Amino acid sequence: MRILLDGFSKAFGAVTVIENMNLEIRDGEMLALLGPSGCGKSTTLFAICGIHRVSAGRILFGDKDVTRVAPQERNVGVVFQSYALYPHKTVEENIAFPLQVKRLAAPDIRRQVQEIAGLVHIEQLLRRRPAELSGGQQQRVALARALIRRPDVLLLDEPLANLDAKLRLEMRSEIRRLQLETGITAILVTHDQVEAMSMCDRIAIMNAGKIIQIATPSEMYSNPRTEFVAGFLGNPPIAFLDGVVRDGGIEISGTEIRLPFAATIARPGSRVLVGVRPETFGPQGDIPVKGRVSFVETQGRENLYDVTLPNGLVLRSIQPVRSDVALNDEVEWHMRSDRVFVFDEGGARL
Ligand SMILES: Nc1ncnc2c1ncn2[C@@H]1O[C@H](COP(=O)(O)OP(=O)(O)OP(=O)(O)O)[C@@H](O)[C@H]1O
Ligand SMILES: [Mg+2]
Repeated sequence: MRILLDGFSKAFGAVTVIENMNLEIRDGEMLALLGPSGCGKSTTLFAICGIHRVSAGRILFGDKDVTRVAPQERNVGVVFQSYALYPHKTVEENIAFPLQVKRLAAPDIRRQVQEIAGLVHIEQLLRRRPAELSGGQQQRVALARALIRRPDVLLLDEPLANLDAKLRLEMRSEIRRLQLETGITAILVTHDQVEAMSMCDRIAIMNAGKIIQIATPSEMYSNPRTEFVAGFLGNPPIAFLDGVVRDGGIEISGTEIRLPFAATIARPGSRVLVGVRPETFGPQGDIPVKGRVSFVETQGRENLYDVTLPNGLVLRSIQPVRSDVALNDEVEWHMRSDRVFVFDEGGARL
């Protein structure tokens, strides 16, 4: 089911939280709404499921305008961070609840509960109560309950936030598997870039109530349109260096580093920001960078190296473990002019 937000705005009293948002979620895709706390992710999701009334604009499911349709008539399945299971009901009763509300016949309900329990791998847990389940198991029950009505749309608001690291990893691929198997259109709200990158077909990055960029994870990573997007994706994060456009290149302030740069894009003398991802800084490259190895962290397959430049700036490098580099070594490594991002003072990519 395609979903369209058309000029969607939302205000709480005098405070406008979302202004004129246009967003299309394609039929069958899983889209991440990614952004920092308070940027309006949940507000957007609540408007799609009908919990919030919109202040302006329209919401379409397929060709149908659902802007004024009640939540229970929109046929959406929702899973929140707190799973909101009924504590006194068994797993089976929790999952069956939406069907009982619809007054389906008991054998029908039992068959559908069995089927959906199989899909999320909790057949063995149907007699238990929520308190007798692990966080990941509760999450599966919440998913089963959201899916049992065969919703047109699955909305997930930080569904993994309460799980420990290992379970989060497991449920990440589990939710994605379910989404692909059922072909359901899904929106995942998260502030975790890894979650968004690993689970979704496309990512919409939000900041302060606005969508900054929509792209596939790899597009977003390799071609960020703004400093904000570049800084939001990547772990360890991208480093930003101040520079000035001069004589057909960029001089990095306080260093001898010079990058070639077409001065036609920015006026000579203008200040810019140069973004360097840690995997594009190391022994290989075309732009020499001298400094001292000030930190080494072993991550098993790879090492993290911090190189402190003479002016005190630190550039991070991630590369395969090397035996020829030790703490406090003076090195001449390189940036790659074809892999750096240049932004103007306002943060827009040049
Ligand atoms: N019911 C409400 N009344 C007034 N302000 C609200 C209400 N709900 C949300 N807000 C405000 O709207 C803004 C966006 O909130 P929202 O919950 O959508 O953020 P979020 O992106 O989901 O953040 P988080 O990652 O912390 O969950 C915040 O400034 C919040 O304080
Ligand atoms: Mg939220």
